[in-house]
Amino acid sequence: MRAADKQRFIIAGLGNRGRDSFARALLAFPERGVPEFRERADIVAFVDSNIERARVANEVLGTSIPVFTSISEAVAEHPADWAVITTPDHTHADIATEALSRKLHIVIDKPLATSVWECNRIIEAGKKYDRQVIVGHNMRYNEHMLTLADLVRGGAIGKVQQIEAAEILDLDHGGSYFNRWHSEFDKSAGLMNHKCCHQLDIINWVIDDRPVGVSAMGDRTYYVPRKDIKTGARCSECAIAGQCVHFCDVKASYSGNRPEDAQRLRRMYVDVEHVDGYIRDRCVFSDRNTINDREVLNIRYAGGATACFSLMTYAPREYNYFYFTGHDGRLEYSVVFDAEAKSKAVSGGAETGHFPNECEPQIRLFNKNGHIEFIDVKKFHKGFGHDGADVKLIASLLDVDLPGIHPVQRATLEQARDAVSIADMAARSIAQGGRYVAFEETGRDFPPFPPSTFFMASPETIRHNLENNR
Ligand SMILES: NC(=O)c1ccc[n+]([C@@H]2O[C@H](COP(=O)([O-])OP(=O)(O)OC[C@H]3O[C@@H](n4cnc5c(N)ncnc54)[C@H](O)[C@@H]3O)[C@@H](O)[C@H]2O)c1
Repeated sequence: MRAADKQRFIIAGLGNRGRDSFARALLAFPERGVPEFRERADIVAFVDSNIERARVANEVLGTSIPVFTSISEAVAEHPADWAVITTPDHTHADIATEALSRKLHIVIDKPLATSVWECNRIIEAGKKYDRQVIVGHNMRYNEHMLTLADLVRGGAIGKVQQIEAAEILDLDHGGSYFNRWHSEFDKSAGLMNHKCCHQLDIINWVIDDRPVGVSAMGDRTYYVPRKDIKTGARCSECAIAGQCVHFCDVKASYSGNRPEDAQRLRRMYVDVEHVDGYIRDRCVFSDRNTINDREVLNIRYAGGATACFSLMTYAPREYNYFYFTGHDGRLEYSVVFDAEAKSKAVSGGAETGHFPNECEPQIRLFNKNGHIEFIDVKKFHKGFGHDGADVKLIASLLDVDLPGIHPVQRATLEQARDAVSIADMAARSIAQGGRYVAFEETGRDFPPFPPSTFFMASPETIRHNLENNR
């Protein structure tokens, strides 16, 4: 018999996030969850369209949780309260509406979906079936981000007028998206949606405002087919794997003694690829890439603020920054680097929790006279996933009282849609040469694919690309 106050969970999508962030946390594994989670939650079923991957999850976790290929089948045999949806972004809307129609509350990992149109379907289903929908905007549970929100919402710099922000991914992390399903626009709606929904949500949340329009430009000029080197279709069959900075070693074991680290990518993806054909180590220079590798956005907010936001996916070092300016001051979040980069234990290792933290965050509050106050931030649960953000998000869901949790951190569905809406408006703008696109233009369909590199590239880039056939 289950304890009356235990919530029953189905986890849909037993890949990287479903298995190692949510299942592990709910089972209260060290560095993933706290013991209270086990007292409040039971996992009653695993669901994955690749049933073998769900079986591997059982092997690695040492569990024997029943496995299914759909939520409807799972819930028919194992009644549940919640479904955690950790499947690729483009599947969220269908799986969420199915789970809601089965009267489950849901947790959907970010981004809520790949278009405003799909977000609206989830919002309507949530209302129709009167269920809770929680979105995995875990970055809000990072104490530096909470500090930014506290200061700005508390009036430290007056009403925010302008924001400059960026997500700068390094070659390893940025490149890892081009090894995976994320590089196909119809699966992720691009990295502005898939990755930057975190940062865009932080901006919206910190200034407590809604985006109403976007003008954007973008391109893909680095992760493109190359004539100068002979690459294989996938890293494990590539003659230049040893020299390639983007080599994704699917046979590698990651350092540490955690059971999920031994031959992690081989067991999770390669051993089961015969079931769904999903290739985890696709060449980053594939001609199948359809997302941009860099974008710049200008965003207008309902309250009058403007923001510029950049995405870069092939920088030498990784970081992000947020600068907010109001009439009474300026608040800056950025990082302080060591001069030398730390080497990474395993390449292609992003999304495995194994890329080193090479820089320290710093928050600076400028008053009107230029005096700078450096703000101390106390961190909690730093050893857990995403610097403690994952464990706090799950604690808030289960009403477990951990330090560092604040009610303002939970994203409403409309806020989660706002983050998606910026990427949706940006995609429409990029497809039309940078035209200003208003929120009202979204919501009826999926945004257009980015135009081909040759269409959007500068004359210099086109000349360079033609000469090098890249
Ligand atoms: N909040 C965060 O910090 C964070 C970090 C990484 C990923 N994510 C999100 O988590 C989700 C999963 O990402 P991932 O890296 O774990 O991907 P993944 O590819 O490792 O795993 C996805 C799993 O979903 C399964 N799947 C695919 N289609 C399905 C369907 N229709 N029904 C059931 N299962 C299906 C796949 O077989 C796979 O096992 C994505 O939405 C991603 O954006 C969030």
